[in-house]
Amino acid sequence: MKIIHLTDPHLTGVARGNVYGLNPAQRLRRAIKSIQQYHADTAFIALTGDLANEASEGAYAILSKIIKKSEIPIYPILGNHDNREIFRRYFPDYFDKDFVQYIVEKEGKVFLFLDTLVEGERYGEMGKKRIAWLSKALRTHKGKPTYLFMHHHPVASGLYEMDNDAAFRSSELFWKRLGKSKDVKHIAFGHLHRIMQTSKGAVGMHCTRSTAFQVAYKPNDTLEYLTNKEKPTYAVMEISEEGEVRVHHHEYLDEKHYYEDGSRAAQ
Ligand SMILES: [Fe+2]
Ligand SMILES: [Fe+2]
Repeated sequence: MKIIHLTDPHLTGVARGNVYGLNPAQRLRRAIKSIQQYHADTAFIALTGDLANEASEGAYAILSKIIKKSEIPIYPILGNHDNREIFRRYFPDYFDKDFVQYIVEKEGKVFLFLDTLVEGERYGEMGKKRIAWLSKALRTHKGKPTYLFMHHHPVASGLYEMDNDAAFRSSELFWKRLGKSKDVKHIAFGHLHRIMQTSKGAVGMHCTRSTAFQVAYKPNDTLEYLTNKEKPTYAVMEISEEGEVRVHHHEYLDEKHYYEDGSRAAQ
């Protein structure tokens, strides 16, 4: 089965709003258009947070319109830029009590959408209640290949700010719980605005670029969070019958191809 991972759209509250001179809504729409054109067999799109750039009512209104219009179901979760109460007004179905956490089951596989938001903070946390929800979800679906979607990165990224001010602070508890399960195959997260892949034990992980702006990887940079102009991507996750995941990252703003002689294909 095929799933697409989109992340960090950072929508503004106005249709023509911009972030760093680019239009986040337009870029998200372009991604969905490309997915519908080239990956119409996608089971669903997971959108892993920082839905809004400054958590205004307008940003969620725009997202709601985009999601309703999409032919492929889109499942959103929250990031550090988001606001639960405003989100709730537009997407009441995604709540489990106080948090945006829910389960999607398809073709014998289980997809858990997690909430790592600590309102007003860049860092993320799950705390006891959310970890308990995760534990229960894993127990209930024991024996089925399981995949997690979350905003914050549950492992060190190598990016100074992301591993300090903006880190996931519940890693210990999180991995302790996951360590008891043999079912979790892969974790897709956002927040880094970069393509990154890693693993812990048997669990594979990846992050894909934001649909809006990106962040440079400068290992020696200990202070600055440097945004850059790398092109946005979406991640195509292809899951085998046995549950293994293959991930391709695709730049969708330019879909043209080169011919063998080096000339560009006509549109
Ligand atoms: Fe973000
Ligand atoms: Fe974030």
